[in-house]
Amino acid sequence: MSFPTQRPRRIRGVSLLRQMTRENQVSIHDLIYPIFVVPGQGIKKEIASMPGQYQYSIDQLVQESKTVFSLGIPAILLFGIPAAKDEMGQDAYAPSGIVQQAVRALKKEVPKLFVITDVCLCEYTSHGHCGVLKGGHVDNDKTLELLSKTALSHVEAGADMIAPSDMMDGRVGAIRKMLDQHGFQNTPIMAYSVKYASAFYGPFREAAQSAPQSGDRFGYQMDPANVREAILETKLDIEEGADILMVKPALAYMDVIRAVREKFDLPLACYNVSGEYAMVKAAAREGYLDEKRIVLEILTGLKRAGADLIISYHAKDAAKWLRESPETESAISSDRLLKISP
Ligand code: PBG
Repeated sequence: MSFPTQRPRRIRGVSLLRQMTRENQVSIHDLIYPIFVVPGQGIKKEIASMPGQYQYSIDQLVQESKTVFSLGIPAILLFGIPAAKDEMGQDAYAPSGIVQQAVRALKKEVPKLFVITDVCLCEYTSHGHCGVLKGGHVDNDKTLELLSKTALSHVEAGADMIAPSDMMDGRVGAIRKMLDQHGFQNTPIMAYSVKYASAFYGPFREAAQSAPQSGDRFGYQMDPANVREAILETKLDIEEGADILMVKPALAYMDVIRAVREKFDLPLACYNVSGEYAMVKAAAREGYLDEKRIVLEILTGLKRAGADLIISYHAKDAAKWLRESPETESAISSDRLLKISP
């Protein structure tokens, strides 16, 4: 069958029908907001390459998290920048570490906000690598011990979910085992299953002060050219006990999101990373793009690619826009709703 019998514009031409037949929709419930905490008091310092994103001291983080919660965003992903760094990244697993303190404050002051903590050593090591070094290389198995300790300390502080981002082999299993041994069988793990060695993390490394002091991350993060390897990494994480999978970055990897979606049935998140945010903000500032439309289009595209959850620095703006956007607004007028209500 073809034209003139088939006329797809019959549907597209009517806003109500467009809405009734829409295949994918971003909801505020899909969003996770990443946020950075630093030591100190009264600090709210803008990250130069990420306009609108800040490093917060704990008191300010609590205030900001109340706003995030009131916008309807269900969860945050917390990153810490410690007061001091060392070879072994000790502040990552210290009970008095920056993330542990922040989690305690958040769970006290904004208890209903779901707190996910990023588990990695790169913000805490003096050399900036995601694990401990031995002979200039990241020692996988020694790192597993420290990552598991870190995860346990976050959960003991009150974290609702753990998100390991280091890309060591076996880390999901090691963390699962550690949590189970300490009675935290019910704490889920959102694994950065598919994490590429990407230039899109550039602005984050300024935000988290975590750039490697020498070398690069190609020895543990994935080669951007690979997709079969993404399936392998995901399979291993599932076998080790991951509850939610993740693909990161998002925009240049939508085919990977789709591939993982088709192959596995666990919930899938994607991370719309710092460089993706920075590009949109820079273009919007220059007036080259309509920021609101671009952001909603990107988020919708990530849903269409297969993501259930989207971690994004745009989350706060998106939450505001999703309430007011004509694309999400009901095509049924509010008068009519009033008339049929009892
Ligand atoms: C830590 C980590 C990074 C990001 C999330 N967790 C940086 C990196 O791996 O270098 C990047 C997030 C972003 O760019 O927004 N390992």
